[in-house]
Amino acid sequence: MPKAAGIAYRESGKPQTAAKHSPLILIHGAGGNALHWPPQVRRMKGRWILSVDLPGHGDSDPEGQSTIEGYVSCLETWLDELAIERAIWAGHSMGGAISLMASLTLPSRVAGLILVGSGARLRVHPSILDATADAETLSSAIELIMSWAFSSKTSSQLVGLVGKRMAETLAHVLHHDFKACDQFDVMSRLGEIRAPALVLCGQDDKLTAPKYSQYLSDHIPQASLRLFEDAGHMVMLEKPDEVARVIQDFITQIQLAPGESG
Ligand code: COA
Repeated sequence: MPKAAGIAYRESGKPQTAAKHSPLILIHGAGGNALHWPPQVRRMKGRWILSVDLPGHGDSDPEGQSTIEGYVSCLETWLDELAIERAIWAGHSMGGAISLMASLTLPSRVAGLILVGSGARLRVHPSILDATADAETLSSAIELIMSWAFSSKTSSQLVGLVGKRMAETLAHVLHHDFKACDQFDVMSRLGEIRAPALVLCGQDDKLTAPKYSQYLSDHIPQASLRLFEDAGHMVMLEKPDEVARVIQDFITQIQLAPGESG
């Protein structure tokens, strides 16, 4: 996998005139990696898409971070190294928090926001924080997270695969991710966001309840909400075709707006 600023990423559909375009960047959640996004989203037709392994995750070199601002700063350096001025930021869960923070602190670099299973405040259950604090209890932490992360309609094969991938994350990285989420709160700042936003959530999400997405959609000035039936927190893996379609439509709308190119 290519790397920039030590951050590994997968890339699809880079146009020849890349300098004129804003790519879609995909940012996974706590304990994830680029493969938390399904191929239907990572390789959407006609789109330039970069899917990252956050620092501390997957194949990336830099240390994991313990604040959302820390991850934003790493991604800013990564974008600088790739000479990407502006992007549509799509984030799942903690990745959504990173995208929201970027839209507040680096507004000129955010052409659009796609917030998947996320929220403006992400308090973490003490049992998750406790169980991830010790490498000895990592497997029980992952079991707990997996039991909350999917709709009951989702195949056990998918649940098993995602759990296996999460188990590859170092315990302290996962713990710091959850600490970063627990401290994140921009509930009073959503009115400042200027980027258009698409908010997606599974109806059965138990880690970031649909009411969190409703709040985002109600308080971000230009936002639309889409809820998915029979899907939980990992909605993009549980409903990959439907999620890809909604994202495609959103990007088309952004590109039709004056002054934007995709
Ligand atoms: N958007 C809208 N409302 C939110 C919100 C958000 N992002 N985050 C919290 N709230 C609401 C809650 O629904 C609650 O409303 P209520 O008083 O009407 O019930 C209120 O704000 C306070 O909630 P919270 O800050 O979460 O504190 P809490 O003490 O009620 O609960 C937890 C703490 C950890 C038990 C709870 O947040 C939880 O179960 N979280 C989900 C599980 C988890 O760990 N998720 C991981 C996320 S990365």
